[in-house]
Amino acid sequence: LVKFRQDYQPPAFSISCVKLCFELEPNTTTVTSVMQMTRQHADVPLILDGQHLTLLSIALNGDPLLADAYQVDAHCLTVFSLPDQFELTIVTQLSPQSNTALEGLYLAGDTYCTQCEAEGFRRISYFLDRPDVLAEYYVTIIAPAQRYPFLLSNGNKLSEHVDSAGNRVVQWHDPFPKPSYLFALVAGDFAKLSDQYITQSGREVSLELFVEKGAANKGDFALQALKRAMNWDEQRFNLEYDLDVYMVVAVDFFNMGAMENKGLNVFNSKYVLADPSSATDRDYFNIESIIGHEYFHNWTGNRVTCRDWFQLSLKEGLTVFRDQEFSADMASATLCRIDAVKLIRTAQFAEDASPMSHPIRPEQVIEMNNFYTVTVYDKGAEVIRMLQTCLGKTDFARGLALYLQRHDGQAATCDDFLQAMQDVTGQNLTQFGLWYSQSGTPELTVSQHYDASSATLRLNLVQITPATADQSEKQPLLIPVKIELLFPNATVQQHLLLLTDAEQQFVFDNVTQQPVVVWLEHFSAPVKLINNVDDDSLLFIARHATDGVARWDAMQQFWSRKVAHCLSASQSDAVLPDAVLQLMRHWLTQPGDDLALTAELLTLPDFDTLAEQYQQIPVNQLIDILRQFKQQISVKLAQPLRQCYDVLPFQPYSYNQQASAVRRLRAVCLSYLVFSSVDATNVLTSQYQHADNMTDVIAVLTASQQLDSDIFQNLVNDFADRWQHDALVMDKCFALVASNPHPQVFAAIETMQQHPLFSWNNPNRVRALLSAFSQRNPAQFHRADGKGYQLLANSIIKLDAINAQVAARLVTPLLSWRRFEPKRQQLMRSALQQIAKIKGISNDVYEKVSRSLN
Ligand code: ARG
Ligand code: ZN
Repeated sequence: LVKFRQDYQPPAFSISCVKLCFELEPNTTTVTSVMQMTRQHADVPLILDGQHLTLLSIALNGDPLLADAYQVDAHCLTVFSLPDQFELTIVTQLSPQSNTALEGLYLAGDTYCTQCEAEGFRRISYFLDRPDVLAEYYVTIIAPAQRYPFLLSNGNKLSEHVDSAGNRVVQWHDPFPKPSYLFALVAGDFAKLSDQYITQSGREVSLELFVEKGAANKGDFALQALKRAMNWDEQRFNLEYDLDVYMVVAVDFFNMGAMENKGLNVFNSKYVLADPSSATDRDYFNIESIIGHEYFHNWTGNRVTCRDWFQLSLKEGLTVFRDQEFSADMASATLCRIDAVKLIRTAQFAEDASPMSHPIRPEQVIEMNNFYTVTVYDKGAEVIRMLQTCLGKTDFARGLALYLQRHDGQAATCDDFLQAMQDVTGQNLTQFGLWYSQSGTPELTVSQHYDASSATLRLNLVQITPATADQSEKQPLLIPVKIELLFPNATVQQHLLLLTDAEQQFVFDNVTQQPVVVWLEHFSAPVKLINNVDDDSLLFIARHATDGVARWDAMQQFWSRKVAHCLSASQSDAVLPDAVLQLMRHWLTQPGDDLALTAELLTLPDFDTLAEQYQQIPVNQLIDILRQFKQQISVKLAQPLRQCYDVLPFQPYSYNQQASAVRRLRAVCLSYLVFSSVDATNVLTSQYQHADNMTDVIAVLTASQQLDSDIFQNLVNDFADRWQHDALVMDKCFALVASNPHPQVFAAIETMQQHPLFSWNNPNRVRALLSAFSQRNPAQFHRADGKGYQLLANSIIKLDAINAQVAARLVTPLLSWRRFEPKRQQLMRSALQQIAKIKGISNDVYEKVSRSLN
């Protein structure tokens, strides 16, 4: 079952060209594949991957094969004694209609759609379904013309006609050789938005966006974002698009966010469709970033792809880094970074501490779909960012250019990438390479000693990476530590320290005044910082650091420290110092130019961020203390909160930095006001009624969850009523209902599962309800009686039979079971054991559950 990175073998055959013909039928789609193949190794049979397929016929150079010349089982088709070069024709049949896994070719509603990454193509036809087999594709699609106005595949359209039987027949050709995971087919009836982009070298590219009929007005933002992304990649990395057409299709049934298939991106409609009344600022942000992400894959992923799936971070880490840089240029750079840091500190650190811990380049895998993780993607992006920090922006860009030029049209490895970076800069990256092979969260302990008499500042750094579930021995990493020195005379110095040893000292001479040190500015490395600086210094940094991220981070550290202190003392001790209240008052009364940053400065760390600081997570205490802090802030700062709220203007909605910053700050004020304001209910209902946009509406609903009253229920009912026909908005409703921290959440979730728009077959619906519950409702998910764990386990069991990939993603919160006190451990473990007992459990769920029980 397990595959190891070390076992990589080059393919025994290559496929130069494949011609595919699809005759689409809900239950009996026929796929004819004609492959031109060449032997690469003597004396081995051809083993093609294939699953859930019925083999109808197989022919070698046009002649049907005799029954003893091949062999079929549930996973492959083996063909014996083949010549060195040949044409293989294989006809198979499959049922898109019964494909609820949404992997391979599936029919959802009236739309045929494919998802092949990582190993879905083998559900379409027998093939060498591995990323290092690159072929040129010709595709013919045949379907009833009336019902299927659009038959799409990769590359350029060669021809289209309607035959005498009333079938539409469309032919496509993709001139760029590609692995099977980048193949795509979509057939359906859509509203089509068209536009054009002229590349920097003057080539015309037609842009086509396909969305569900009636939703054309919701596609424009995505289309404009695509043009911004195309332009950005030219400006920043000198990378241009290469085909005549770029198509994006939005579909309602999709396992993930989106997929970068060559020339034909398929998107979850959640990341395409937007208008002010139904989409939040966050939705707009995500759309732009994911449109960018998939577009950037055209170079980092498609033109240069991965040799094997262990190298996934080669394309994903790099492409996430690229989309983050794009977003930072389009939206607030500070907020982008803060969001990225939050994700690393919560989900990624939790993954490192879990039984599924793995390096960004995993060593062993059972089900590849389980490794599309926050470690491979987001820690992978942090590793690329550190490389850019170490090499400098210019050399990094030169290295990337060399990598792309050297490996264009090839399947490469992470080592190839580092080699190109090394060749361009002449720097030895051997130690840096450990970030690819070593898992876990490094802990960086820092201290500073200032000696006035000699005017020296000594900085001590110690790094330790604790053992992880997958790896006990750890080595010192190359850690780029950015610092800021804030001097009393308001001057600032910035430095980059390159930590290479387990313990190292950096000495600065001629330092005539004692500075406050800002450590790990801009989160320059994905590590846990252990720092015993005092509260006053933290508040000083929060006020005076030049880097907005550092200011926010100082507040986060301050609050984490306060929470920890309350935990170790007694809870009655939760009295907030005046200094922090003063500072918050200052921000509320003079919010400055960057309102979005101000909003973040005023926000307490969330449960997950705090939880990551503890070996054993004190669930109830954390929830209580957080609530106490919020209540105190809301009472002590009632007036400035209300004033700040009242002066923020309600303006007609537009998605831009300034306007979304206003809404963000308003939401933060509201989240405190609900605790103290005598007329909280009025404030909430008034904003709810007057808002012309979804962002301000969701802010009300979220804030009202904190009140022990019927107001949340009333508002949600009204909301559900108003949006009962819009599935994407109902997802927001499902998520709100499931994240309600009150005990009635269980009944409410059951009710929502009866909603006409809820369906276990749709991943968005399931995630909206169950991920919101297990990841945004610690109070009820971690209920002491285990009811929350049971709900999740039962849902996973039910879903595993329908869509294993999505079911496996739901397992994640249970993986941390060792992090809780014995009673909860026991309850979580028995939930996992119950899942382990499912008959015919999928590999996806099995891999995660078995790793956590062993
Ligand atoms: N490559 C896609 C993207 O990051 C995601 C594919 C996810 N595939 C999966 N099997 N989970 O843009
Ligand atoms: Zn990606």
